Amino acid sequence: MSNKGSLEVSIDSVLHENRKFHPNKEFAKNYILKDLNVYKKLYQSSIKNPKAFWEKMAIQNIVFFKKWRTVFKWKDYKAEWFTGGTLNVSFNCIDRHLITERKNKAALIWEGEPGETRTITYQQLYSEVSRCANMLKSLGLKAGDKAAIYMPLIPEAVIAMLACARIGVVHTVVFGGFSSNSLRDRIQDSNCKLLITADGGFRKGTSVKMKDMADEACKETPTIKNVVVVKRTGEKVNMKLGRDVWWHELIVNESNQCEAIPLPSEHPLFILYTSGTTGKPKGLLHTTAGYLLGTTVTTKYLFDIKDTDIYWCTADVGWITGHSYVVYGLLSNGATVFMYEGAPTYPEADRFWKMIAAHRITILYTAPTAIRSFIRLGNEGPLKHDLSSLRLLGTVGEPINPEAWIWYHEVIGKKKCPIIDTWWQTETGAIMISPFPGITSTKPGSATLPFFGVEPAILNKDGTPAKGTKGGYLCIKKPWPHMARTIYGDHERFKKTYWKEIDGVYFTGDGAHQDRDGYYWIMGRVDDVINVSGHRLGTMEIESAAVQHPSIAECAVVGRPDPIRGQGIVAFVTLKKSVAVNEGLKDDISKFITHEIGNLARPDEIRFTEALPKTRSGKIMRRLLRELATTGTIKGDTTTLEDFSVLEKLREKDEE
Ligand code: PRX
Repeated sequence: MSNKGSLEVSIDSVLHENRKFHPNKEFAKNYILKDLNVYKKLYQSSIKNPKAFWEKMAIQNIVFFKKWRTVFKWKDYKAEWFTGGTLNVSFNCIDRHLITERKNKAALIWEGEPGETRTITYQQLYSEVSRCANMLKSLGLKAGDKAAIYMPLIPEAVIAMLACARIGVVHTVVFGGFSSNSLRDRIQDSNCKLLITADGGFRKGTSVKMKDMADEACKETPTIKNVVVVKRTGEKVNMKLGRDVWWHELIVNESNQCEAIPLPSEHPLFILYTSGTTGKPKGLLHTTAGYLLGTTVTTKYLFDIKDTDIYWCTADVGWITGHSYVVYGLLSNGATVFMYEGAPTYPEADRFWKMIAAHRITILYTAPTAIRSFIRLGNEGPLKHDLSSLRLLGTVGEPINPEAWIWYHEVIGKKKCPIIDTWWQTETGAIMISPFPGITSTKPGSATLPFFGVEPAILNKDGTPAKGTKGGYLCIKKPWPHMARTIYGDHERFKKTYWKEIDGVYFTGDGAHQDRDGYYWIMGRVDDVINVSGHRLGTMEIESAAVQHPSIAECAVVGRPDPIRGQGIVAFVTLKKSVAVNEGLKDDISKFITHEIGNLARPDEIRFTEALPKTRSGKIMRRLLRELATTGTIKGDTTTLEDFSVLEKLREKDEE
């Protein structure tokens, strides 16, 4: 752990928040739980006897084809839930609703950036997903094979995910904003046989050329046998003979019926990559029953889904938030999900609010970074539109600063909508700490209380409880159904990263503290992971990309607070001896990094320095760089520094 300092800095920033907001009485009237005492009882039973609790939840909320023999097994840090049972996620998200009144209810309402809309009912979703699943079968895919999905946010992305789940194909969705190199690395790591992509997608009025990126990636992915291309923008793309096929040409001939095959509870559902402290992104593997149960139950209790709701989670399906709370948890509950393809402020700053009014959205789930950028745009946009349909608001992805919380509460929620600040991770699969709307009093900036079955602990590095308000490492004491089972292909890394950092508990990588009411306050990462606009990036990942630039000798990347995006990226760079600094060099390096990883990783600032501060054992002291990037000076402990003259050089650079 290299940045213990930042733990204290961020604790300080939340400690002064004393406001408390009590549950809205109108909302509470129709809420699934009567009061906080009911929650407390259920919570206690979920902790005391997790097997009985989750078994009951599974019976109430999920359709199994065959009942399980064993509820839970834990061996070599590998969890198994509902062993012996069989089920199908796609069946739970679609078929089970067809025998109810939901048959002709909208499952997806989609709006493209140019403004067109599409509505897909559960019955239509069944047909589309079946045809897509049959197409995958025609292309030779079978249960256990892997398929990559690299798409804009269009209904076909969701259809493809559900089609994979229907026949047991493991999907790995790669966010459309990632570069061709990132796509290539993910396909290589998970050995995908098939890539599903689109000609492009619309963003900020222009088209993003996804097929070109996919072509670039596929130059080095021998496992890919076919590329299925959805026509979205209609632009001309290269179609490689024998490999590339058009989605619409293939799918027309397929039957609109496809059996959802019974799969074992622990059958892999998807692999999703996320950044870690060291090395390349890790592929977290989620499996069928536990993941479906966790996303279904959290959606039911925390989003309070009713048949009249129109729910909008603004995340892309390329992130875990999109997997769990655009697709699986919502459709499993038979909800109507709204999806929007493009940029939040296109063509005008009020696009979000206009869509909420037009579609009568009732539940909105978004990220603090989006809220902060809307605050900057002023209140005119939201005030111009009728937002009275909204009844519940949520946030996710990073700590929300109280100022943003209050704005969300007043300007968007009109002081009547509960706000659920939901803490969780790619690894946890579903929400872990969050208010229960309607019964939990909220405090701006706190994720409040744990969900059922989640036993958090705030510990010191040696595993002892961190007492008082000073905070410590947020850990989870016991396994839960929706946790990732492993890092694909590297179980040792899984054990080391999550279960051995502090022996025997799940290590989240976040710092937190608990107040007198038992509320949790998340303070952000305590490792070398930075959170830019709610997206995780490993500093090492950016550094490894940067040092491939021909002019760079060494690079150290740190995060510094950013008023809109949570954190910004600062790269300290030493150049090779022979390289002369020229005007375009910083720009060139910046382009190089974004080419390697994607736009998300674009540095806010690149600083050239003659040397980087290192310990005697050669480790870069990022802590000092972080301090310099944040405060402009270095006051922290420098006793372990190998060469003190480096400090002077760094400071000189800062004054330039
Ligand atoms: O640091 C925490 C932050 O996001 C990290 C997880 O990132 P990722 O796996 O990409 O998943 C994001 C969406 C679930 C966490 O380790 N984080 C997420 N939600 C919150 C948060 N930090 C504070 N408050 C939250 N509500």
